[in-house]
This record gives sequence, structure tokens and C-alpha cells, in this order.
Amino acid sequence: MTRVPTPVRAPRRLAAKKPVQRSGAVAPKVPLETDAPPIEVAGLRSQFGDRVIHDDLDLVVNSGEVLGVVGGSGTGKSVLLNSILGLKEPDGGSIKLFGRDRSEMNEADLEDVERRTGVLFQSGALFSALTVRDNVSAPLLEHTGLSRDEADAVADLKIALVGLPPVAGDLKPAELSGGMRKRAGLARALALDPDLLFLDEPTAGLDPIGAAAFDELIRDLTRDLKLTVFMITHDLDSLYAITDRVAVLADKKIVAVQPVRELEESSHPWIKEYFLGPRGRAAQSAASGGAE
Ligand SMILES: Nc1ncnc2c1ncn2[C@@H]1O[C@H](COP(=O)(O)OP(=O)(O)OP(=O)(O)O)[C@@H](O)[C@H]1O
Ligand SMILES: [Mg+2]
Repeated sequence: MTRVPTPVRAPRRLAAKKPVQRSGAVAPKVPLETDAPPIEVAGLRSQFGDRVIHDDLDLVVNSGEVLGVVGGSGTGKSVLLNSILGLKEPDGGSIKLFGRDRSEMNEADLEDVERRTGVLFQSGALFSALTVRDNVSAPLLEHTGLSRDEADAVADLKIALVGLPPVAGDLKPAELSGGMRKRAGLARALALDPDLLFLDEPTAGLDPIGAAAFDELIRDLTRDLKLTVFMITHDLDSLYAITDRVAVLADKKIVAVQPVRELEESSHPWIKEYFLGPRGRAAQSAASGGAE
């Protein structure tokens, strides 16, 4: 019953491959001219009043990797995401995206970065009054010169790409299950063919089967669309299933960035507790093919 349809494979640059061309309101996204990592955070300081959340935080996310971000509740994972997205101004240090310093970007750079970036917020953040199709076509209408019909056609392709049935396009978010809503949010995040995808707790609130299916979807899309992924998660199974490396936020910094199997050996107290707790052991055992 919980079976999820296999996502339809679709070529990259779906929008660009459409025979109808943009009417020219916005220049089409050009290929990246840089080999710089998609995200470079150096010496980041973040605070609210006197309360320091990040102090001298460094993090590099490499092109094509799925980076998991973990840390205790309230350690500043979402604040880090907001800082990278430009929703919170850093109080010190620098944030570079595709080799360009955020604080030095002009309007055209910011527009370009926005087009290269997709975000799946924890809540899904879909417009409740709009159908799924209209939610997915909204960024296309905002950032490209596509007509309404063209944007709807691209939206329908994205809806299929994330494994939703065609009928989902006509439904409002409240008419979807939690898992379908996550997929709809993902379809919207992928609308502009991003290079960089941010996911905040993508499997939170899903049952284990739904969560595993969503992990699989993200893994397939990442591979097929050559995405770089920054994924905040509490889900240990997701770390084992899809990440290349995991960054640990503790003590106001990133204290480790390693493949999950290497992190298991860490002597950092929080990391030890994380992996040696019952959930950590269960995830390790599942990732190794069951109880041994
Ligand atoms: N707008 C804000 N004003 C004041 N303090 C804030 C604001 N946003 C976040 N904080 C504080 O910053 C700290 C880090 O919050 P953040 O939401 O990044 O935690 P988190 O690691 O994402 O936690 P969780 O795993 O529970 O989502 C918290 O103590 C929070 O209270
Ligand atoms: Mg958070």
C-alpha cells in the first residue's frame, strides 16, 4: 500500500531542452565557469544579540557530493542553512557560493545563485492555496521567461520526476499525504534544474518505509541530475543510505566532516554518544545488512 512508484528518469536541463524557447525576460542559466566548491564557509560567526551560535565555523561542500549535517537540537544547523541561503547576515567570516563571496554579489550574481539553488524546507513550505502544479511552476514563472503553459508542462515533468502520479498536479497540499507533500516540495525545489539542493530534515515525519523510499529517490536524483546536496537530518538511516560525508555541528563549529563509517570511530563525546546509542547501533546494523 505504501508502495511508491519508481521515479521516472528524466534528462538534466529539462527546461532548457524544451523546444519552446524562453521569451527572454531572464537570461537562461549558463554553465558554471568555475571549479570552485559550490559552498565554502570560512570563519563564520553567527549570533543573536550576545548569544553566539557559530564561532569560527569552517565548512566546504564539494561538487557532486551529498553532505549530511548533524548536531544536537539547537546547535545551529538551521541557522547555518539560513546563513548560506542569505536569509541571515553573518556576524563574521565569509560564505562563498560557486566561488563568489555572498557579501560581494551584485543583483545578477544573486539571481544566478538563486537559479542554481533548490531548497526543501522542513515544512515543505508549499503555498496552501495553490495546486501542486502551480506551486512547482511558481519559480519557473518568476525566474524564467516561460509562458504559463510552458511552465505547467515543465512542472508536470518535475511532478513525474519525483514519483508523484499525474493527478497530484491538480491537488492542493492539504489533499496530499505527508510523504507526497515532501515529494511535491522536492519537485518545486528541482523546478529550475538547480546545481545545489538544500534539504532540511527531508524524512522527518515519514514512516520508515516512506523515509527509505524518499532516501532512495534523493539518491537516484542526485546521481542522475549530478546535484550537490546539503542535507540536515536527524535520521541515522539516511546518513548511511545516501551521504558521501557527514558534517557534525557541535561546540559552535563543525567538529568533523567524514564519511559516516569513519565518524563511527570518532572520540568526540557527542559523536560517540550519537553512534553508540541504540538508534545509532540499529542504523549501523541495518546498513551492514542486518543483525550480526
Ligand atoms: N531568529 C532568531 N532569533 C533568536 N535566536 C534564534 C533565532 N533563530 C535561531 N535562534 C537560536 O539559535 C539557536 C540555533 O537554532 P537552530 O534553529 O539553528 O537549531 P537547529 O540545530 O536547527 O535545531 P533543531 O535540530 O532543533 O532544528 C537556537 O538556540 C535558537 O534559539
Ligand atoms: Mg533546525
